Amino acid sequence: MSNKIQTLGGYIHEYSKSIQNPEEFWSRVADSFHWHQRWDNVVEWDFVGPDVKWFTNSKLNITENLLERHLFVLGNKPAIIWEPNDPEEAVRTITYRQLYEMVCQFANTMKAQGIQKGDRVIIYMPMVPEAAVAMLACARIGAVHSVVFAGFSATSLADRINDCEAKMVLTSDGNFRGNKKIPVKAVVDEALENTNTIEKVIVLHRTGDEVTMKEGRDVWWHEAIEGVSAVNEAEVMDSEDMLFILYTSGSTGKPKGVVHTCGGYMVYTYYTFQYVFQYSPVDVYWCTADVGWITGHSYIVYGPLLAGATTIMFEGVPTFPEAGRFWAICEKHKVNQFYTAPTAIRALQAYGTEPIQPHDLSSLKVIGSVGEPINEEAWHWYHDHVGKGRCPIVDTWWQTETGGIMVSPIAGVTPTKPSYATLPLPGIQLAILDNDGNELKGNSVEGNLCVKFPWPSMLRTTYGDHERCRQTYFSSFKGYYFTGDGVKRDEDGYYRILGRVDDVINVSGHRMGTAEVENAINEHPKVVESAVVGYPHDIKGQGIYAYVICDMEGRSEENLIQEIRETVNKIIGPIAKPDKVQIVPGLPKTRSGKIMRRILRKIASADTGNMGDTSTLLNPEVVDQIMEGAR
Ligand code: WTA
Repeated sequence: MSNKIQTLGGYIHEYSKSIQNPEEFWSRVADSFHWHQRWDNVVEWDFVGPDVKWFTNSKLNITENLLERHLFVLGNKPAIIWEPNDPEEAVRTITYRQLYEMVCQFANTMKAQGIQKGDRVIIYMPMVPEAAVAMLACARIGAVHSVVFAGFSATSLADRINDCEAKMVLTSDGNFRGNKKIPVKAVVDEALENTNTIEKVIVLHRTGDEVTMKEGRDVWWHEAIEGVSAVNEAEVMDSEDMLFILYTSGSTGKPKGVVHTCGGYMVYTYYTFQYVFQYSPVDVYWCTADVGWITGHSYIVYGPLLAGATTIMFEGVPTFPEAGRFWAICEKHKVNQFYTAPTAIRALQAYGTEPIQPHDLSSLKVIGSVGEPINEEAWHWYHDHVGKGRCPIVDTWWQTETGGIMVSPIAGVTPTKPSYATLPLPGIQLAILDNDGNELKGNSVEGNLCVKFPWPSMLRTTYGDHERCRQTYFSSFKGYYFTGDGVKRDEDGYYRILGRVDDVINVSGHRMGTAEVENAINEHPKVVESAVVGYPHDIKGQGIYAYVICDMEGRSEENLIQEIRETVNKIIGPIAKPDKVQIVPGLPKTRSGKIMRRILRKIASADTGNMGDTSTLLNPEVVDQIMEGAR
């Protein structure tokens, strides 16, 4: 299959074909792969159950398609280039053949340590090649990986382990992050005090810091792989067998385990990677995400490797040792496609263009954005100073649940428009619905973003709780998948994502449920009640604003606020730490006891000109008190 559409007309043609005959369209893409057994039907689905199956009864292993399939031609091509946190440390380049051997060896290692097909394995690791090896080794033997971002706390880690009843944790002694060292093994030890399903922990040597190794449970990675064969026959998987679980926040208190399966995820991440970035075989591609998020799964590991690409993995942070690090790496490795998050762009924008100046960015062809709406100012800065006005920006809209990019320009093919994700990819049938569930047809409309036809990499369920999947995504609008995002389709038919319409906030591109943060705050013994909302934040996109009712006895307000922030840090992790905490005498509630978040959002955004009708409140006087306090 060629990945070249040359023109807007080519895209329109491709899109129409994909809608007129989805079966034919997707089977043509799927034919690029090696299947042990071909499918009966391309897709079987209903959005009520929901029950979605792609490539029914087909058999495959995704790692054969990203390793063996490439070895003959691409065996010596770099698969992963690893750039360490410290630029003085040596770069590691891993060819497809080496990756193949590492994956096979680690697959055998995991088996020897008791892991079988279907078992869940937690990956809590730094951004090192072994993290990708760990994911692929799981996929190789049919174990289900669940990567947990290594910034999450022991409590969050334990919750995830317990929810999926994982048998193994893969981790490291510590992680480097900028000028900090994070003792991740100690976090794992703490988490495991509150779990009882983990049998083995494999620990990668990274920082060299001292750790405690529990006899019989903990083994060093380098010792575990010693002498283990690098020959491994891949487990033959059904297309609909689970590939991985990834936990993500929703509007309820508890993160849910989004489940992706083998066949459809493989086909879609491969297809979208090639099309959106217009990857050519000699290109070097870099996505700055962490493997702890879906972007890292689909567009650092699976998509690029399925396409035989060279993918860069970066261990560090954009501002270490200085604010030009991203550009230094682009220059050093002659990066052709660069994919990052608006929050990183805005953070770097704050340093001005000086850190960019010394670097030769002429290798760049395509620059991308993901994770949150990119504001016009950041879009132009990125376009002018990083892309030098000649690289198209692919503003890619998608979600953990969608598995792959859904709405995006196709680099150099379809037009871009600042702050617009623009057009749906082939195969993606969007619908905009009003709050009553009527589909708004035509252009110049605004409403709830839904999808009305399945695509191969959509979530299949939420782990252990299918009803929750139905409730969350398929019950708001009958017969549609509801994304939780608001959207506008402009006069030209281009899509602009307006942000979440549910109780999810997007902090630096990380999804946080307000209820989840509230639950953490409420763990503080002096907290009576809390309400959390998002507010516009210059760098993070959205900041976290917490209104808290406290028992103040014997405490200073300042100390309490500090303690509350620390409580959240401890329970969820630093990414969820509220930016602002305001101690309030009460929360605005309706007569039925529901918190009026609309009012709290307005106060948090300092948009108090028109508070709307507050007369239906149980306690209207509290609004003025909160406003006074916010000042
Ligand atoms: C938001 C990240 C605007 C959106 C891949 C979505 C975006 C949530 C964009 C999913 C974009 C992601 N423009 N908003 N290009 N990309 N979002 O699951 O609100 O971490 O619902 O997946 O991020 O976040 P998630």
